[in-house]
Formats: sequence, C-alpha cells, structure tokens
Amino acid sequence: MSTGDTMRAMIVREWGGPEVLTLAELARPEPGVGEIQVRVHAAGVNPVDWKTRASGSLIAWGTPPILGWDVSGVVSAVGPGVSLFQPGDEVFGMPSFPAQAGAYAEYVVGPTRHFVRKPREIDHIQAAALPLAALTAWQTLVDTAGVRAGQRVLIHAAAGGVGHLAVQIAKARGAYVIGTARADKHDFLRDLGADELIDYSAVDFAETLRDVDIVVDGIGGAYGERSLRVLRPGGHLVTLPDADSVPDTTGRDVRAGWTVVEPDATGLREIVDLITTGRLRVEIDTVLPLTEAAKAHLLGESGRTRGKIVLSVA
Ligand SMILES: NC(=O)c1ccc[n+]([C@@H]2O[C@H](COP(=O)([O-])OP(=O)(O)OC[C@H]3O[C@@H](n4cnc5c(N)ncnc54)[C@H](OP(=O)(O)O)[C@@H]3O)[C@@H](O)[C@H]2O)c1
Repeated sequence: MSTGDTMRAMIVREWGGPEVLTLAELARPEPGVGEIQVRVHAAGVNPVDWKTRASGSLIAWGTPPILGWDVSGVVSAVGPGVSLFQPGDEVFGMPSFPAQAGAYAEYVVGPTRHFVRKPREIDHIQAAALPLAALTAWQTLVDTAGVRAGQRVLIHAAAGGVGHLAVQIAKARGAYVIGTARADKHDFLRDLGADELIDYSAVDFAETLRDVDIVVDGIGGAYGERSLRVLRPGGHLVTLPDADSVPDTTGRDVRAGWTVVEPDATGLREIVDLITTGRLRVEIDTVLPLTEAAKAHLLGESGRTRGKIVLSVA
C-alpha cells in the first residue's frame, strides 16, 4: 500500500507481451466535476485488457497507460457537484470504457453514473468480475437482440466470462439456451441452466442445430458465417470479438452485427436485481494479486478459463 497522495499501479511500459506490465508508484487521480474517486479492492480482467496490451489500439490512453475497466471498491473522495455517492459507499462499475479507466491500480476516478452500489450479496472480487462481461451479455441479449421467452438462443464460448453470464440472463428471460463448450464444462453450464450443450471439439454445431433465433458469438472468425446457417428467418447474430468477424448477410433474411459494450448504470442495476433475486451468479476462475497481472494475462490468453479472472488490489 502506498502512502500520502500516491498509489501503486501496474502500468504498460510499452505495448507487447504480459512482461510489459510493470509496478509503478504514481500520483493518485483526483476526481473532477461529476466524478468519484474509488479505492479499488478488486479489478476484473477481460480479453480487451490483453488485446490492447499487445497492440495499444482503439483506446484513449492516459500517461502512462494503465489497463483494466472492471472495478469494485469504496468511494474515497467525490468531485464537485456529486450527490449520488459519498465517501465510504461500496460501488462497482466499468467506468469510462473505451477510454482508460486504469483499474489495475489502487485508485481510479470515473463518472459517477458509471458506477452503482455493490449489493451485500456479493464481495468485491465477485463484483469486480461482473461489469464488463455482464453488461456485454445484457446489452447483447436484451438491448440489441431483444430476447423473448421461448426463443432459441445459441451462446458460443458459453463457459467464458461473457458466455456463462449470457446463459443465465437468457434463461432469466425465458429462453431455451444452447451453449458451445468443451465437455468438461458441461456440468457447470447445466447447473447455470443451459438446456442443451455442444462439445465443439467433437461436434459441428452448424451441422446439428437449426431454427435458432439469436446467436451470441464470442469466438468470431469462421464462427460468424457458420452461425448464419443455424439461424431461422428473421434471426439475429451478434458478434463480439471484432467487426471483421461479422459475416455478409446479403440476400438472407437474417441480421448480423458487431456490438461494443458501454458503461450503463441502468444495465448494472438490472444485473444487481438478477443477483439479489438469485437468478445470476458469477463464476470466479482465479484470483491473483495486482502485482501478478502478467500471470493473469497469460492464464486468460490460454482461452480455457471458466468464468472470470480477478486481481485482488486492496
Ligand atoms: N464487443 C464487446 O464489447 C466485447 C465485450 C466483451 C467481450 N468481447 C469479446 O468476446 C470474446 C469472449 O470474451 P470472454 O470474456 O467471454 O472470453 P473468455 O472468458 O476468455 O473465454 C474463454 C472461454 O472460451 C471458450 N472457448 C474457446 N474456444 C472456443 C470455441 N472454439 N468454441 C466455444 N468455446 C470456446 C473456452 O471454453 P472451452 O475451454 O470449453 O473451450 C473458455 O471457457 C472475446 O473475443 C472478447 O474480446 C467483446
């Protein structure tokens, strides 16, 4: 723990492999008008962290760059004009995305309404695991695809950070949920409510599935084109990894598009409601200390994790 007005953070020394993540002592960020400063207890790790660490692309970075958007912690100061929170409040959120939030640090600042109160049902580790993945799942299924009861929903990478939350959100909306995952993760996904599971390493989903209303594609590449084949007329494919993975739908009665998650207090409150009513739980794959962020990236980049990786900060 640092003292005075400084903080410890894992900065990006230069864009590259996990080894570029370096511990540094920096000035604490001060909250501006409409912002809060949060003492970070835990920071969630997401694929966008290691993708941008490697390339530096797409994001508006600070100096020095600090990765991480998922934060759970305690309000330590409020900027001018803030009445929603006060020091001591426990909050979580995904501030500022896709501009830098700097969650791999002891303190972050962000717009007040990019945070919500942490419910007492979950601890800081669980809360930090949620915002980016859960908002992606919520915004994709509910806001973009408008999932309705009785629809058939296919979720690729169902055991991953986004996928395992999407399975539960689709179930909570009354959908019939099909997931792709290796066989060793099927019991886990059945416990979360998945109705049908496909071991993609043994079975081609594009040959076995039909009449799907919504596909959530967390894999990309050729999965986009193959997913179109399982959609029923009027069906909707939402691609997560990148815009290049969106297949051409010319001449077909289906929709396909890339969507990017946005900070969203309303969506986060819907997530909190699902948690407090026992309809959503977050799976923690691994917790590591902030200083082992590089190890967290190596683990995440393996592509085999179940649920979320979280850095413990406080
Ligand atoms: N557009 C956006 O705003 C947005 C937001 C969030 C995430 N994303 C993107 O969405 C993707 C998924 O993110 P995530 O956080 O869920 O990733 P993740 O947690 O790292 O996903 C890991 C999971 O992927 C599964 N998997 C790997 N290859 C697979 C395959 N061929 N078929 C089915 N499952 C497979 C693994 O399960 P097995 O061990 O069973 O293979 C593992 O459980 C990433 O590309 C991420 O960048 C985009």
